[in-house]
Amino acid sequence: LTSIIPPQVNLTDGCFTAPDIQRKSTTLGSLAGIFADPAAWRAMPAELAVYQVEMLPCEQREGELFVGTTHLQPGRVGNEFFMTRGHFHQRPEQAEFYFGLRGQGLLLLQHRDGACTLEQVAPGSVHHIPSFTAHRLINTGTEVLSALAVWPTVAGHNYDTLQPQGFKLRVFAEGNGWKAEAQYE
Ligand code: F6R
Ligand code: ZN
Repeated sequence: LTSIIPPQVNLTDGCFTAPDIQRKSTTLGSLAGIFADPAAWRAMPAELAVYQVEMLPCEQREGELFVGTTHLQPGRVGNEFFMTRGHFHQRPEQAEFYFGLRGQGLLLLQHRDGACTLEQVAPGSVHHIPSFTAHRLINTGTEVLSALAVWPTVAGHNYDTLQPQGFKLRVFAEGNGWKAEAQYE
């Protein structure tokens, strides 16, 4: 019997070593309408990479799981921290786990009833994203925020449900910290 070398993940930064790893970069220019201050967004370089996702390929059939890491750069658009687009799952009953590995930030959860919660993301933090809950990572720190995620391959992404209003809560820099502001009722 022989043994195989599985893919490796560096648990201090979430970087994978695997021949078939898939990577997707999201630029500032592709995040139109996401940040609160459109003038500040327009004044910044469109080609700036705000976050990169790396994940292991997997067959997208019922019961299977993806694993991947989001690396979210530090930065702001105006006073608002860099963040992911955020989404409900296409199959909204599908849940997910996030694990903080590097950097400091927040996980914004918007539940089915519209209530929002913020969880502190830091190395070692474990986040259960329940069914029917939209989620977004926010980098409130000065280094890259990296979070590992595990989610059903059938979950999919639904970016439309949150539009046009977006999440109910936004997070802005205040002094050396942050403040959250409700956007609408
Ligand atoms: C998968 C998941 C993450 C995000 C990633 C990018 O269900 O939650 O892998 O897809 O953090 O964020 P979005 O997809 O909102 O651009
Ligand atoms: Zn998700």
